[in-house]
Amino acid sequence: MTLADLKAIVRTVPDFPAPGVQFRDITTLIGHGAGFAAAVGHLAGRARSAGAQAIAGMEARGFIFGAAVAVQLGVGFVPVRKPGKLPAATIGVDYALEYGSDRLEVDPDAIAAGTSVVIVDDLIATGGTALAAAALLRKAGASVPIALFVIDLPDLGGAERLRADGIAVDALMQFE
Ligand code: PRP
Ligand code: ADE
Repeated sequence: MTLADLKAIVRTVPDFPAPGVQFRDITTLIGHGAGFAAAVGHLAGRARSAGAQAIAGMEARGFIFGAAVAVQLGVGFVPVRKPGKLPAATIGVDYALEYGSDRLEVDPDAIAAGTSVVIVDDLIATGGTALAAAALLRKAGASVPIALFVIDLPDLGGAERLRADGIAVDALMQFE
């Protein structure tokens, strides 16, 4: 399946969750067996090339792709969670979204110091989520060479923000 085929399976829902937002919905992609497998395969190939020793994914949509990529590579998965979900001691950071704000938390014991952790998420918009995740992973002692996404929304500038922070960015498709 080509990347153009995958892009055609992503659904666009206008005005969700707020007026003016074009929501790029992966529900249709992950519901398509061959499409989901191809998307995970493309991400896993790129994560392997980057030398991933672990994969981190952000709750909730990042768990879907990140965990699948980790299984393909045979490496561990680090859950980057919304607040109040992790039972042990956490480190956390607040961040802004295209349509609101949120907080992410990580259990520092989930990461061995010096591990090369590749971030995987469904989509990068402003980059706030991925920058927050990278900050937490670095604080826990990891290095973050690259962040991988199914979808990049380049008009929102997130990929540029990550690159300015020393993190390479790759995505399977872009929506203007
Ligand atoms: C979405 C998406 C990314 C983030 C991208 O998650 O899955 O994680 O927004 O936006 P940004 O680049 O502007 O930070 P959302 O917070 O909506 O949560 P969900 O995965 O639980 O749906
Ligand atoms: N997360 C942030 N912006 C988004 C968008 N436009 N579509 C889907 N998920 C998003």
